[in-house]
Amino acid sequence: MPATVLVVGGAGFIGSHTCVELLQHGYEVVVVDDLSNSSPHSLERVAKIADTAVPVLYVMDIRDRSALSEVFRAHPIEAVIHFAAKKAVGESVGMPVEYYDNNVGGTTALVSAMREHGVRRLVFSSSCSVYGNAVKVPLTERDPVAPTNPYASSKWLCEQILTDVCRRVPGMNVLNLRYFNPVGAHPSGLLGEDPRGVPVNLMPYMSRVAHGRLARLRVFGDDYPTVDGTGVRDYVHVMDVAEGHRVALQHLDDEAGMRTFNLGTGVGSSVLQLIAAFEDATGRRIPYDVTDRRPGDVAALVADPTAVNRAWNWSTSRDLAAMCRDAWHFQSRNLAGYAD
Ligand code: NAD
Ligand code: UD1
Repeated sequence: MPATVLVVGGAGFIGSHTCVELLQHGYEVVVVDDLSNSSPHSLERVAKIADTAVPVLYVMDIRDRSALSEVFRAHPIEAVIHFAAKKAVGESVGMPVEYYDNNVGGTTALVSAMREHGVRRLVFSSSCSVYGNAVKVPLTERDPVAPTNPYASSKWLCEQILTDVCRRVPGMNVLNLRYFNPVGAHPSGLLGEDPRGVPVNLMPYMSRVAHGRLARLRVFGDDYPTVDGTGVRDYVHVMDVAEGHRVALQHLDDEAGMRTFNLGTGVGSSVLQLIAAFEDATGRRIPYDVTDRRPGDVAALVADPTAVNRAWNWSTSRDLAAMCRDAWHFQSRNLAGYAD
């Protein structure tokens, strides 16, 4: 019998790419998603790429404890990957209660259901934003955390809750993955990032400017202490992130308890460098204006990926050109996102 993995938030950007990777490696996938930031069509695309049936989807909020219990009763779930969260940093500043409620409340509901049903393996989506204003880059997992906004704080709270749960519940194994900046799309052009409304993140915004759906890109500040004054991030291809989750599942039982890993490439790129890479990879021009800094933003966040490289004998393999090319391929083939 293939192992069954519950993918919470599996209709979303990273979740859907991870579903492809799992299905292609023989896992059974069950998805829970309230579709608050995604479309069920993503799972149809997943099935098309993986050449399988469409994964079972439960459209529900994970904070609905009785509905969640039903899902665990209905399937022989061996491991859970928890992607479900609200993730817009700026929005989180304006609605902290909703962010804590969804991200922290969702995680406690999920962990309660796992405990109730004897499921002890979890991969958790954390974020490099827990490091806050990094004093130096690249960052190792031992560097201090200092969240600067409610979104990042909600991730840090979840990490602390999961640490405590692992101490208390025998046999509970959690891999806590701090993603840097996942971008790009499946190379088929069928699956990609299709956020509801106007994108807040750089790559999807830039792809829509390239296409003409949005007029100009705003570069948020050019007075940071970085290579060219614009913000530096560690962009990582979503297919590498998806592959990383499949590899993580194989390493959940390596050690007991909670373990934290950075998931990034170790390469930092500024906003202007990303624009140049996008223009090179796609042949499209990106008109932009430099504006004020965006509240809550930090200067530079780059991963030191050594720990994950050593622990799993695995590393990311796709470069910035592939990230830009694949993001653009998806955008140009799906002018109105999955609605097409
Ligand atoms: P996404 O919004 O595309 O996917 C999240 C999914 O969770 C969505 O499909 C949404 O509908 C669902 N969801 C949200 N709240 C829910 C709830 N209460 N119940 C059920 N479903 C719910 O985001 P993503 O980019 O795929 O991110 C996945 C995870 O990775 C998130 O936890 C995010 O915080 C984390 N992360 C993302 C990035 C990034 O830049 N994309 C970086 C670091 C960490
Ligand atoms: C943020 C979070 C990350 C979170 C992710 C998902 C931080 C440090 N990181 O990523 O943890 O999971 O959001 O939402 O909080 N930029 C522009 N113009 C734009 C958009 C962005 O110049 O229109 C710049 C930003 O200032 C930043 C870089 O591009 O320097 C990347 O921004 P973005 O793609 O939004 O990701 P983060 O804010 O790094």
